Amino acid sequence: MKWILFFGALIGPSICGRGKFFGDQVFRINVRNGDEISKLNELVKSDNLKLNIWKSSCSLGHPVDVLVPAVSLQPVEFFLKSQGLDYSVTIEDLQALLDKEDEEMQYNQEQERSSNNFNYGAYHSLEAIYQEMDSIAGDFPHLASRVKIGHSFEDRPMYVLKFSTGKGSQRPAIWLNAGIHSREWISQATAMWTARKIVSDYGKDPAITSILKKMDIFLLPVANPDGYVHTHTENRLWRKTRSLHPGSPCIGVDPNRNWNASFAGRGASGNPCSEVYHGPHANSEVEVKSVVDFIQKHGNFKCFIDLHSYSQLLMYPYAYTAKEAPDADELDEVARRAAKALASLSGTQYRVGSTATTVYQASGSSVDWAYDNGIKYAFTFELRDTGHYGFLLPADQIIPTAEETWLGLKTIMEHVRDHLY
Ligand SMILES: *[C@@H]1O[C@H](CO)[C@@H](O)[C@H](O)[C@H]1NC(C)=O
Ligand SMILES: [Zn+2]
Repeated sequence: MKWILFFGALIGPSICGRGKFFGDQVFRINVRNGDEISKLNELVKSDNLKLNIWKSSCSLGHPVDVLVPAVSLQPVEFFLKSQGLDYSVTIEDLQALLDKEDEEMQYNQEQERSSNNFNYGAYHSLEAIYQEMDSIAGDFPHLASRVKIGHSFEDRPMYVLKFSTGKGSQRPAIWLNAGIHSREWISQATAMWTARKIVSDYGKDPAITSILKKMDIFLLPVANPDGYVHTHTENRLWRKTRSLHPGSPCIGVDPNRNWNASFAGRGASGNPCSEVYHGPHANSEVEVKSVVDFIQKHGNFKCFIDLHSYSQLLMYPYAYTAKEAPDADELDEVARRAAKALASLSGTQYRVGSTATTVYQASGSSVDWAYDNGIKYAFTFELRDTGHYGFLLPADQIIPTAEETWLGLKTIMEHVRDHLY
């Protein structure tokens, strides 16, 4: 029976438009000095090569991952070799990984249809995620509710799960954000697992029970719904929103450059075709504005955590400047403890530090905005892995990733609980 369903999934209506990565590869390039950084910049800036940066870095000793389309393989290899740059191929057959992901997802869809159960170890469509959020709220009506906080550019609803054990709406609160970059699928999946974990462990695990006694948790699993749908239907590697820009053929804004924190400063681009386009003005993206308005109206958020992938990093403000945040010592200490707790499950190692000093300077980020608006406990996770699969982390790593991340999240939330201000 299983086999037939599997076969059926293979020949059934396929998810369209995803077969556009035939022959593409991901390169990892090691830059060893300033000269090599400029050479690499030169390469990445040549528009005709259509390179897509998966992981950038300004610091020596941390490699850069770049998606190289099949047609550009030869010129890129020629350039790297002739310039003496050190590189390796991390993903030889991108399309094969995508096909495998697709097959697994379709097979899982059939399984879920017959069992009526959401499989937390699988990737899901937006619709399935929204339905499961509704189920969680339905299963735990006194603990969880699904709240619409706004809508996306293409008019999809934006839902958060609110976990609360108290009356009154202005209890101190924690914001858990995921999926602001749509292709980082492990983040939305980890957020969903976390939602289920919160409701099933409340009343059993003293940590989450005591956290929820004092505070509410708001969890936004898909902060960029249009982008997420686009990664399912058109381009698995889409990062930005889907907003339109008069006068430009290019679509979308990097929603993690669009917040009102040193907006349009370093590490963001004014070019609508850039992957880090900051948008026409701060909060131009309705998805960002919806969160900002909700948080400001609430007025009592103490913690803001943004889940991304990949690289295995736990970072705190600032991103827009290399200057130390006033609370850097405390945030660093908490982040180190959280990374240690995370590693205790299966040894996954995270690097810890401020965003600007750990990866690169980036203006207009969510976490800097939170921090500059009085939300002291502001952290960014870059989840698994370190580049072997990159954004295409296999579904069998969802639960291991979510489980270890939970230990890190709990460490932070317990600290917030004990240091309310
Ligand atoms: C951004 O923040 C500044 C204060 O830091 C404020 O004056 C300005 O109106 C804000 N802009 C938006 C679009 O919210
Ligand atoms: Zn991201």
